[in-house]
Amino acid sequence: EKGGYKHFMAKEIAEQPVVLADALRHYLPKTGLNLPADLDFSGVDRITLIACGTAHYACAVAKYWFEQFAQIPVEIDVASEFRYREPPLSERSFAVFVSQSGETADTLAALRYCSERVAKTVAVVNVPTSSIAREADIALPILAGVEVGVASTKAFTAQLLVLAVMALKAGNDRGTLSPEQIAAHSDTLLTLPGLMNQALTLSEPIARLAEQLAEAQDILFLGRGPMFPLALEGALKLKEISYIHAEGYASGELKHGPIALIDRMVPVIVMAPHDRLFDKTVSNMQEVMARHGMVLLASDAKGLAVAGEGTWATLQLPEIAEPFAPILYAVPAQLLAYYTAVAKGTDVDQPRNLAKSVTVE
Ligand code: M6R
Repeated sequence: EKGGYKHFMAKEIAEQPVVLADALRHYLPKTGLNLPADLDFSGVDRITLIACGTAHYACAVAKYWFEQFAQIPVEIDVASEFRYREPPLSERSFAVFVSQSGETADTLAALRYCSERVAKTVAVVNVPTSSIAREADIALPILAGVEVGVASTKAFTAQLLVLAVMALKAGNDRGTLSPEQIAAHSDTLLTLPGLMNQALTLSEPIARLAEQLAEAQDILFLGRGPMFPLALEGALKLKEISYIHAEGYASGELKHGPIALIDRMVPVIVMAPHDRLFDKTVSNMQEVMARHGMVLLASDAKGLAVAGEGTWATLQLPEIAEPFAPILYAVPAQLLAYYTAVAKGTDVDQPRNLAKSVTVE
């Protein structure tokens, strides 16, 4: 049932263009944004996004979208912290719970805490019959199909897609995005399956680079803007299946500490599409190169033309409009983790000490 792939994770990474195409057919049909009418953001004063692990990083990316598109204050938190903090909540707010399994104990407890305190609870889940789906006021399935690998891959990009469509709806409901802007962003989302197919052709060069990454003790991931949470996700994916210590940082934080780690032995993976913040990220990258760090720059043709020189390696992604780049760059981040783990010979689908669904806190 691995469909000719060596691991479920490889199969699930490769499935993403089809998974996103399915989710797009549902959430972005020709008639426009397709979300329940009662998911109306017009009177909402705050959105709280709660999850664990990879799903939390999907929320962290979505914060950029909700703020930019809908001008709503957004709070994100890991469920295990949120639930015991017992934070004050506004009756006019929405609380959104993101979970592949829909059974994560901390996320479910956070949902129960919110249910009587906010205007609406929304579940973004892969398993439609799960506890989180059943207990939320509104459940939005991500339509990713069964995910077997403990390392979450297709569920992450499908979560991002649903959150992106929600953020566009929020912009629509609040009048902060024009119909033209919504159409332009929707068009970008619709290009994702094709762009992801192109990104998947990076498997071979990534497998070659992974031979060297597998030798590392520590690996850093850097990103800015919505690419910062993707750096966190890239590091989580790598550490959970290859057991190599990895950290994600906001590029601008480099000189506030982590740059002290840099030497010839530390690979630094920079996820930087040629966007508005590109020059800033490149100057951080050059600080790493000046200290002989091994920089791997993932960017598009424009970015690599400007900044590819002198790096240890480059990966060329297709161009994509700014806010949605994390969905596309998730593919090389996942492939880097996968092939590094394969090079190390670890158990990719069943990494030590981890369970697919964390139903105890
Ligand atoms: O089922 P959930 O999405 O609620 O699970 C949350 C985390 O346990 C999960 O994303 C975990 O971090 C993955 N192993 C990451 O690949």
